[in-house]
Amino acid sequence: MASIAALMLLIISWRNISYCCGLKVDPPEELVIIDPGHFGHLEITWSPPASLINMTECPVLYQVEYFNSYRNRWTAIRTSRRSYSAQFDLMKDVRVKVYTLLSGPCTNGTMIMSTNYTELIQKPPAGVVGTAVQDFVCVFHNMEYMECHWGRSSKMPVNSEQSLYFWHKKLEQSEECPKYVISGGVRVGCNFTGTYLPDFTDINFCLNGSSREGTLKPTFISLQIQNHVKPGTTEKLHLKTVPDTQLEIHWEYPNEWIPGHCLEWEVEHNQEGPDGKITSKQILTKQTSLALTSIHERDCFRIRSKLHKYCADKSFWSEWSHPSCHLEFTPEPEWNMVCVYITIAIIAVLLLSLCVGVGFKVKSRQEKKPDPLLTTLFAQNSALTVAEA
Ligand SMILES: *[C@@H]1O[C@H](CO)[C@@H](O)[C@H](O)[C@H]1NC(C)=O
Ligand SMILES: *[C@@H]1O[C@H](CO)[C@@H](O)[C@H](O)[C@H]1NC(C)=O
Ligand SMILES: *[C@@H]1O[C@H](CO)[C@@H](O)[C@H](O)[C@H]1NC(C)=O
Ligand SMILES: *[C@@H]1O[C@H](CO)[C@@H](O)[C@H](O)[C@H]1NC(C)=O
Ligand SMILES: *[C@@H]1O[C@H](CO)[C@@H](O)[C@H](O)[C@H]1NC(C)=O
Repeated sequence: MASIAALMLLIISWRNISYCCGLKVDPPEELVIIDPGHFGHLEITWSPPASLINMTECPVLYQVEYFNSYRNRWTAIRTSRRSYSAQFDLMKDVRVKVYTLLSGPCTNGTMIMSTNYTELIQKPPAGVVGTAVQDFVCVFHNMEYMECHWGRSSKMPVNSEQSLYFWHKKLEQSEECPKYVISGGVRVGCNFTGTYLPDFTDINFCLNGSSREGTLKPTFISLQIQNHVKPGTTEKLHLKTVPDTQLEIHWEYPNEWIPGHCLEWEVEHNQEGPDGKITSKQILTKQTSLALTSIHERDCFRIRSKLHKYCADKSFWSEWSHPSCHLEFTPEPEWNMVCVYITIAIIAVLLLSLCVGVGFKVKSRQEKKPDPLLTTLFAQNSALTVAEA
């Protein structure tokens, strides 16, 4: 009931402001959309209605309503200027309505709004059907360099070539991709290494092209690069045991480009129990260290990171780091060393006996009598060596 009452009130007050003092306000005229070639950043201009041109003592406002296809809803603003700029998705209809609002002495102090509006609808550009790109993905690697990739539609005519253009507020004119990524002889991406792209502002892209069948349907994309970050892979991951069966892991920031407070981490902990069963669990943290109390037969960790929501609307996960493992019940280290020593000793004895054996043969040929002690010591070994050889 309350909402209906509110609605009625709104309609009454709407009526009140639409008409006053025997005066009817006309909507603006000459509504035009100016496209400076910035791929969706459009300027809308209009002129005041002719009936108001001589009413210079009364303030005039305009209410601009446009369909925001990114958010799928109408947006309204009021301005005293005769133009307004906004970002539009050029792949959808551009729809704009402008009303006139008049106040001041002409309206006895109330604000009245034109009952009608001036409207303009702009259709998306034409092109060969089905050639618009669906999967356009940009990744801002490590906040160092940006790369965009796109898939090729199956309806893409052969011998068609696509081109990527971009624009942002710091550029007067749009520019073409500085370095295309080529795969299978066709352009599949753009490498923006060494090209400055500002963050926290829209970067508009246009992927267009031509073919023998005609112009390809252009694809327009608008994005902000801070929402496309993929942090670098964590390389330094350290494990440390502390008394009372505690395991401490700590890791380092992958680089200096991303502010440390913007990263959150996922630690994957794989535990191997005595029965060989592996259990896996994920831990999310904002710290760069983690202490765990339970130590199993074998504990393995790997880490990945992303920007958390206080720094960006969205982010890609980094690649996983190499796993780092801790073995609890390894064979006694002394035993390991004993094995190594024994192996070395055996090899040494074999090598020595081989040398002595050869030396002995040479000496025999030279008709020199060998040292009796050596002979007795190595006779058996040299015989063995000769037999083996
Ligand atoms: C203007 O408003 C005053 C007071 O609200 C009222 O007395 C007067 O009749 C109004 N004039 C017109 C032209 O509507
Ligand atoms: C505005 O005023 C000018 C001269 O003062 C006049 O020629 C013109 O017809 C007027 N326009 C309207 C719409 O009343
Ligand atoms: C409102 O404007 C449209 C065109 O913009 C026109 O066709 C229509 O007749 C107008 N309505 C009124 C009540 O003036
Ligand atoms: C992008 O360009 C940079 C520098 O020219 C190069 O080092 C890098 O490998 C390129 N990336 C790809 C995917 O081609
Ligand atoms: C693609 O867009 C650019 C920039 O607006 C333009 O210069 C070029 O002519 C367009 N190419 C085609 C084939 O439409």
